[in-house]
Amino acid sequence: MSKNIIIALDFHSGDQALSFLDRLDPDLCRVKVGKELFTASGPQLVKEIVARRFDVFLDLKFHDIPNTVASAISVAADLGVWMLNIHASGGRTMMAAARKALDPFGDNRPLLIGVTVLTSLAKDDLEQIGIPINPEEQVSKLAFLARDSGLDGVVCSAAETKLLRAQLPDDFVLVTPGIRRPEDASGDQKRVVGPAEAIQNGSNYLVVGRPITRAESPNETLLAFNSAVASVS
Ligand code: C5P
Repeated sequence: MSKNIIIALDFHSGDQALSFLDRLDPDLCRVKVGKELFTASGPQLVKEIVARRFDVFLDLKFHDIPNTVASAISVAADLGVWMLNIHASGGRTMMAAARKALDPFGDNRPLLIGVTVLTSLAKDDLEQIGIPINPEEQVSKLAFLARDSGLDGVVCSAAETKLLRAQLPDDFVLVTPGIRRPEDASGDQKRVVGPAEAIQNGSNYLVVGRPITRAESPNETLLAFNSAVASVS
């Protein structure tokens, strides 16, 4: 079982997240803790989720001077998480420092993933912050910089997956949100792809939130996502 589905634990409180996890099997999925839940419940909750044998993607998207990011990454890795991320736009020195901070963890180190261009930013938004190029070009540029700085992969939208998979080495990890089956509500996601299609396009891990967290039977829905992935793996 390759555990390609990462469930986004977008909850207001640790109690809500833990009672949701009571209903899930850590052998069948991984989970993502983002800024909302981490701000509410912090490192203690992450430790508790790790103690329940779930692989945790700590999605805090660090972006600061290299020394600060490296220190934060080291402390985060101490929590026993499986994956961490930083903004690739923090630059090569920041990314390389973050990656180096994981060396002491040896083969047990968490994967380190870059965030390229937030999908909420369009061409106009980039221009306003002094980056007058197409978002796709910027995504690709930052993905290469992330790879050259020693990162394990990037988070990318479903729309970017095919291109990045064609450009980057097979072992460069692609993590993709915006995943929906035809029967799922898209919510605020504008462009979505199905789980099988995302894997076929070259994604390694799929971040799925509301379709599973708000399902009547999260475990059954997870099994359906896993079957869709298995049908093309
Ligand atoms: O509920 P839903 O499946 O839309 O959740 C997707 C998760 O992936 C959320 O935690 C969201 O913040 C995250 N994400 C995203 N799009 C990005 C980056 C992260 O939806 N470009």
